[in-house]
Amino acid sequence: MTTAKKTWSDRFEGSLHPAIVLFNASIGFDIELIEYDLNGSVAHAKMLGHTGIISPTEADQLVEGLETIRQEYRDGKFTPGIDQEDVHFAVERRLTELVGDVGKKLHTARSRNDQVGTDVRLYLRSEIDEIRDYLRDFQRVLVAIADNNVETLIPGYTHLQRAQPVSLAHHFLAYFQMAQRDWQRLGEIRARTNISPLGSGALAGTTFPIDRHYSANLLGFEGVYANSLDGVSDRDFAIEFLNAASLIMVHLSRLSEEMILWASQEFSFISLTDSCATGSSIMPQKKNPDVPELIRGKAGRVIGHLQGMLVLMKGLPLAYNKDLQEDKEALFDAVKTVKVSLEAMTVLLEEGIIFRQERLAEAVSEDFSNATDVADYLAAKGVPFREAYNLVGKVVKSSLAVGKLLKDLSLEEWKALHPAFETDIYDAIAPRQVVAARNSYGGTGFEQVRQAIASAKAELGQ
Ligand code: ARG
Repeated sequence: MTTAKKTWSDRFEGSLHPAIVLFNASIGFDIELIEYDLNGSVAHAKMLGHTGIISPTEADQLVEGLETIRQEYRDGKFTPGIDQEDVHFAVERRLTELVGDVGKKLHTARSRNDQVGTDVRLYLRSEIDEIRDYLRDFQRVLVAIADNNVETLIPGYTHLQRAQPVSLAHHFLAYFQMAQRDWQRLGEIRARTNISPLGSGALAGTTFPIDRHYSANLLGFEGVYANSLDGVSDRDFAIEFLNAASLIMVHLSRLSEEMILWASQEFSFISLTDSCATGSSIMPQKKNPDVPELIRGKAGRVIGHLQGMLVLMKGLPLAYNKDLQEDKEALFDAVKTVKVSLEAMTVLLEEGIIFRQERLAEAVSEDFSNATDVADYLAAKGVPFREAYNLVGKVVKSSLAVGKLLKDLSLEEWKALHPAFETDIYDAIAPRQVVAARNSYGGTGFEQVRQAIASAKAELGQ
């Protein structure tokens, strides 16, 4: 390996050790920021021209050169190597090759510190918009499933024990709500990400008469950092994003866990279609839920990036420190992971699972998940709830002992338990009625669920 050409001032006489060139360089990953780096530089060059710090002709030359680099990059002709250290140096050097000495004026009144902060914010702003679109696709498929399954019943669980049956739509609408909060949260984080650090200089501002609002405006930022030290060293927005990304992954992971359980022979609530399941290399009978398993696994990665970034920041004195170069890979990986996971889950829900209606119907009628409804029945007739609850506990116990379900008890048996029982007890404990009756706001009653679907559709503009 050759030693690198030195990239900085004549203060340096020697050159970097080859291992340190490699160690120090970020070009291997920050090339991903190039479009944003070019946008930032174009805005900066225009601002320099606008304020008269350089001439309008010089500004035009810089912009033209930067756009040439953009084209070269898109054509696959600009592929800076490790000796360029980072994307910022690579662009500046190429610019000077293209436009001559005027290229050396681009970095007037700017530092790589406010430059990289600008790039990362522009990158994240755009990725947040994309992720919010992925969330909308995910929400659309959740609502479609809900719409088709208002009256499909499924056991509802607490402690993973059968609790009360619910509408399958209600179950999926719970995930709609989580995704809705994720979508909102990203919107709020976008607003705090969309602030310009450009013009903070290395840390203290600059001696030139720059116009920070001018460049911020050109870049679509909604404001500028009020403090230059904060401007170059703040990564709160990245941490907030990683937190939001982790929550998205946690939500996807919980849903994944349910898909995995439901596809198991023990539950058998869904079967997997061939488009989203894989086989085993040795066990011919296997059909594996790889997609939700991978999503569940990837959640760990994103949560890890959040921890990594918090630890990265916690000991940093003001202002810029090279540690901050470590923010990018975490961010890039989290962004990509969230996007592929949302996409995969959307596909899985769209065409990867089939509800086993007969199994679901069986599941909600073969247990004691209507016991609360017996207690509610008595309570509605004036029996204090706690007393009713104890009576039903007794009848559950005696029924279990003889292998009966509540629906199998005769009217005499009910009346022996309490004289208030009438024949309408059978309706009251039928699974469909058990679900329909929970018509409190936000409950699983069909009326509530239909209203919830209508609001969800309105939210999606459907
Ligand atoms: N590659 C650097 C990073 O990602 C750019 C900023 C370098 N600034 C500096 N003062 N060395 O953070």
